[in-house]
Amino acid sequence: MKGESCNISDKNKSCCSPQVENENVNLKEHWDNAYLNSSENKLGWYETDLTPTIKLISKTGLTKSARILNVGAGSTTLVDELLNFGYSNLIASDLSKVALKNLEDRLSTKKVEFIVDDLINPTVLKNIEPVDLWIDRAVLHFFTETKEQDTYFDLLKSKVKSNGFVLLAEYNLNGATVCAGLPVHRYSKEMLIEKLGTDFELIDSFDYIYIMPSGAERPYVYTLFRKR
Ligand SMILES: C[S@@+](CC[C@H](N)C(=O)[O-])C[C@H]1O[C@@H](n2cnc3c(N)ncnc32)[C@H](O)[C@@H]1O
Repeated sequence: MKGESCNISDKNKSCCSPQVENENVNLKEHWDNAYLNSSENKLGWYETDLTPTIKLISKTGLTKSARILNVGAGSTTLVDELLNFGYSNLIASDLSKVALKNLEDRLSTKKVEFIVDDLINPTVLKNIEPVDLWIDRAVLHFFTETKEQDTYFDLLKSKVKSNGFVLLAEYNLNGATVCAGLPVHRYSKEMLIEKLGTDFELIDSFDYIYIMPSGAERPYVYTLFRKR
């Protein structure tokens, strides 16, 4: 099962199939295998329509030189899109070195820094300079333990500048309970407000249905916060 590739002809057995892997799975290996065993455009989280994320980024009013960190970036096309828009100070971070290598090879640019690190046991990320915008799509919801969530939010809070922004897009309460063979912790806007605390002001939020390459629907909640 580990790192099983998506079969996009079967809507019920995609990368986000409701089958949970063995709890002792090595997560680094799990994600590396996911990227090794599937072509990019068949991954259960691959997106070509970045409208919801771009809509929120445009609300920040950040300049093109803003320092933007995409955590759990994988090999997302969002980084290509941000470069197309002229953003020039980007960091893509992920647990999977395979995913980041794919992204680096595809982009071939010096405008992106690549950092392999674990968000729930951070070492390199702990030492980076704070950022103007923290972007997370479909990463936080994999952290099911309170301790993991606390580590994630502690890192986030320490790495976003005052007046900086946080964009979180996670499975909402109508979403699937399993993704990529792993259990997920689903969120509402209110739950994210509580996790971020009073130092962060909600600027915008909306529900969004992502259509997987298999054609299956995955409901997300999109949120944008500003740090006071
Ligand atoms: C569902 S994919 C989403 C990828 C990307 N954000 C996107 O929208 O295409 C989840 C990503 O989170 C990464 N990830 C999972 N656990 C992580 C962790 N503990 N630290 C950093 N990245 C992690 C995985 O390697 C994978 O690339």
